[in-house]
Amino acid sequence: MIKIKDRSEITKMRNAGKLAARVLEFIAPYVKEGQSTGNLNDLCHEFIINNGAVPAPLNYHGYPKSICTSVNNIVCHGIPDKDQILKSGDIVNVDITVILDGYFGDTSSTFMIGNVSESARLLVERTENAMYRGIEAVKPDAYLFEVGRAIEKYISKIGYSIVREYGGHGIGSEFHEDPHVYHFYTTLNKIRLKPGMCFTVEPMINEGRYEVITSKKDGWTVKTKDNSLSAQFEHTVLVTEQGYEILTKL
Ligand code: MF3
Ligand code: CO
Ligand code: CO
Repeated sequence: MIKIKDRSEITKMRNAGKLAARVLEFIAPYVKEGQSTGNLNDLCHEFIINNGAVPAPLNYHGYPKSICTSVNNIVCHGIPDKDQILKSGDIVNVDITVILDGYFGDTSSTFMIGNVSESARLLVERTENAMYRGIEAVKPDAYLFEVGRAIEKYISKIGYSIVREYGGHGIGSEFHEDPHVYHFYTTLNKIRLKPGMCFTVEPMINEGRYEVITSKKDGWTVKTKDNSLSAQFEHTVLVTEQGYEILTKL
């Protein structure tokens, strides 16, 4: 069941989205060579709490930290660790989800550390472009599959692959609501968009093959099966009468 948000809920979604965006803006200058992902977690945790919100990942189905930090061949759900030091050439996705006044805001960016290879830089740039292609397909009465179709059209030309096992999601007073948002074309997303729907667009793009493996050790960390690089960007989006509003931008 897809929930349509009313005016007061939309106000809360805007506030939560804005705060999530502010957390990313706050942490950006620390996402540098020599920093540990564990320290990034602690800084974000503190910032979120100080702003009257709660970090949604913490204890979510047993997840142990307040943010996700996914480095290089890690696709998503990387667990921050004080012993994991960022080094020049790395790419790292920082994924922030906050709960403010009972509503969720979810956003992520992939950062480049020091001097990254040309191929890594292109992967990051094009993954962000892919997310925006998807978002730009959002408007009332369009099918949700237009989002995935736009992403697929852009990415398949380049020869990258789109992770299939994870997608975007409805979001509101719960972290993951209906619908599941596929980042490729499928009639499973033959759903008409209506004003007041909120969902994330968060494509995970691999330089190599699309298959992923979840760590047996920690039960969370998802990596590319072929160990190729993976990048991701995420925004929380509201369907409006005119088209869309990105809730997680400043
Ligand atoms: N923020 C992720 C998403 O975009 C979900 C993280 S779940 C966690 O949906 F438990 F790993 F934090
Ligand atoms: Co999300
Ligand atoms: Co997220």
